[in-house]
This record gives sequence, structure tokens and C-alpha cells, in this order.
Amino acid sequence: MKDVAAYPRRKPSLRDRWDRRIFNLIADQSLQNRLSRLPIIKRLVRQDGEAVFDIMMGFINSQVLMALVRLHIIDHLADQSADFAELSDLCDVPQDRIEILCRAGAALGLMHIRKTRVRLSRKGAVFAAVPGLAQLVDHHEILYQDLSRPQDFFRGLTQPDLARFWPYVFTQGTDLPADDAKRYSQLMTDTQNLVAHDTLHGLDVGPAKSWLDVGGGSGAFVTHVAQKFPGLTCAVFDIVPQLSPDESFDRHVGSFKTDALPAGYDIISVIRVLYDHSDTTIQNLLTKIYTALPIGGRIVISEPMLGTPTPSRAGDVYFAIYTLAMETGKTRNSDQIIDIMNKIGFSDIKFCAGNRPFVTSIITARKK
Ligand SMILES: C[S@@+](CC[C@H](N)C(=O)[O-])C[C@H]1O[C@@H](n2cnc3c(N)ncnc32)[C@H](O)[C@@H]1O
Repeated sequence: MKDVAAYPRRKPSLRDRWDRRIFNLIADQSLQNRLSRLPIIKRLVRQDGEAVFDIMMGFINSQVLMALVRLHIIDHLADQSADFAELSDLCDVPQDRIEILCRAGAALGLMHIRKTRVRLSRKGAVFAAVPGLAQLVDHHEILYQDLSRPQDFFRGLTQPDLARFWPYVFTQGTDLPADDAKRYSQLMTDTQNLVAHDTLHGLDVGPAKSWLDVGGGSGAFVTHVAQKFPGLTCAVFDIVPQLSPDESFDRHVGSFKTDALPAGYDIISVIRVLYDHSDTTIQNLLTKIYTALPIGGRIVISEPMLGTPTPSRAGDVYFAIYTLAMETGKTRNSDQIIDIMNKIGFSDIKFCAGNRPFVTSIITARKK
């Protein structure tokens, strides 16, 4: 690490000089104290301070959430309200500590407390109702361990364990232990509902007769496709073999790194797949999709993307850093994906930021 104070400065630009003036004003504590007494400015000063404090305590927020999930407090409150004594007994946590945890949960807006009684808030009920969210929170422990020395993590000096949670990232995908596939496929299946809903919302399949979901895992997405478009023949291509004995779609077991994709499907989707892989891998994958599609056939890409035009919390904080910890992963913005698609020859490319970009955004295109 170089000495920041001694690091040579370049000649400041006009913008740098302007920013410096503003930063000096912000750093002037007596001015801040005077400003914080003026009606409108007072609110802005407080909001800035709160926002900084919020960022600083982010880790504690997430650990409170993790404790509420792991102690099944959210589950329990989704059924009925409870008082501190009951939660203390249920969770095997001393009552004074359960009170502190519940008050933290209430401050985060997940529950309400009246005297000693705790009930779920609307936000808490939303959390409890989204399938897979608790499992997602639970598996964050791996990511948080990986980020425990963030300066080394960003220098690329750590060996993140998250890559082992997604074991296909370093292999051709052909030698995947069945238990590993089951573990991550379950997490993906549990969280598929919202993604499928937002991806298929407003999508018109026209005269298409068949749909192949590449990297479709357990088939949760094509099950939604088949429900929404009952006339379509659906199939999954994945390294994952059949996970349930009563799959109602065709399954092609193979790796898109080593095998060609089956031809003959009018629509091919890749849902939450590209951001797991390097540019070279996705370039090859998208080329294989282009080759497999008939003329006029359609590709549907759906996954969380970086914020465009400005960074977003979900895309640029959560997903970008999560996929960085996977080592081969990379969250992209829509332009980066569209550039690759243009080079391959896709036409009629359309981007839809989606109703909830923290769940997914969508790009569709056709083969000329
Ligand atoms: C992040 S999961 C997404 C699963 C599913 N599309 C969803 O949204 O729930 C990535 C999927 O890509 C599959 N996959 C990874 N590498 C692959 C490869 N080389 N060939 C085929 N499938 C692969 C994994 O098995 C997994 O099912």
C-alpha cells in the first residue's frame, strides 16, 4: 500500500477545485452547526448524516436479519404475534437479548413492538412471503466471510469460498457432484418465482412452438413458461441431471462449454446464467444459442444487471460484488451484453429494465 499523503497529486482541474471548495465547507464543523439550525438546510444536513450512518452500519443490519431468520423469529411471527418471554423460550435466547434483537428488527421496519408484544410489519410479511429469501440470507454467511478483509478481496489476494458454493464456475461442468448440484439448484428454484414473473410479464411468444431454457437447473423457470403458454413444448439444457422424477418437460444434459446446444427450439432463454461467467464463456454461449436458433428465433436473457446510466445499489453493490466473489462471475450492464450480441449478429435487440431491477432485467433479440 502506498502512502496516501505522499502520493503525487496531478494539477487539479476546474471541477476538482470546485469540489474542494464544497468539501471544505462540508468539513467546516462550525458552519455545519450553524446550517443545521436553518429550516430546509437542517433537513438536508440530517439526511446526509443519516445516509452515511446507514452505510456504516450495513453489516449490523444484515446480521440482525440473519439472526431473525436463523432463530425462525420471522417464520414464527408470520403465524402469530408473540411476546418477548415466548420468543426467548422458543429461540433459547435470554429475554433481555431477544428484546434487543426485536427492537433492532423493529427499527429496521420488519416488525412492530407494543409493550412486550411483537408482531410482523408489512415489510416483515413481504420478507416472509417471498420464497427462498430466508435461504438466500442464510447462505450470505459465505459471502460475508469472503469479504471480511475487503481491501485484500478487492486486490484479488483472497480465495473466496463462494466459488465453491457454485462449483461449475471453474470446471467444464461435466464432473459436478450430485449433492452440489442439488444444493445450489434448490436455492435457485426457491428464488425463481419473482424472476419468472418479471421475465414473462408482457412477453408475447407469437407463433413460437417451443422454448429451451439453457442453464435451466431444476426446470422451475420452464414450469412457469408452460403455465403461462400452455401450447409450448418446453425443455431444459443443463449440466444438472433430472432432479425430480416427474418432470413435465424435456431435459438435455450437457455443458454449454463443451457441447453444442440442441437445435429446433423457437425461443432460447438464459436466466441468471451470464453473470456467473467470463466474457469469453458468454461470447461462446451466445454464439451457440445463435447457431441453435432458427431464422427469426428469439433469445431471452434475464438477470440482474448493473445500474444504467448510474450505479445502483442492487446491481453495483450486491450483484457486482457477489459475482466478483464467484471469481469467474461478472455482473454486466445491458450495453455490455448488447455489444456482444451485436457482434454475434443478433437483431431487433430490446432491453427492459424490468419492474424490479433488483430481481431481474431483460434483453430479448432475434436471429436475422
Ligand atoms: C445461477 S444458476 C441459474 C439457474 C436457473 N436458470 C435459475 O434462474 O434459477 C446457473 C445454472 O447454470 C447451470 N450451468 C452452469 N454451468 C453450465 C454449463 N457449463 N452448461 C450447462 N449449464 C450450466 C447450472 O447448473 C445452474 O443450473
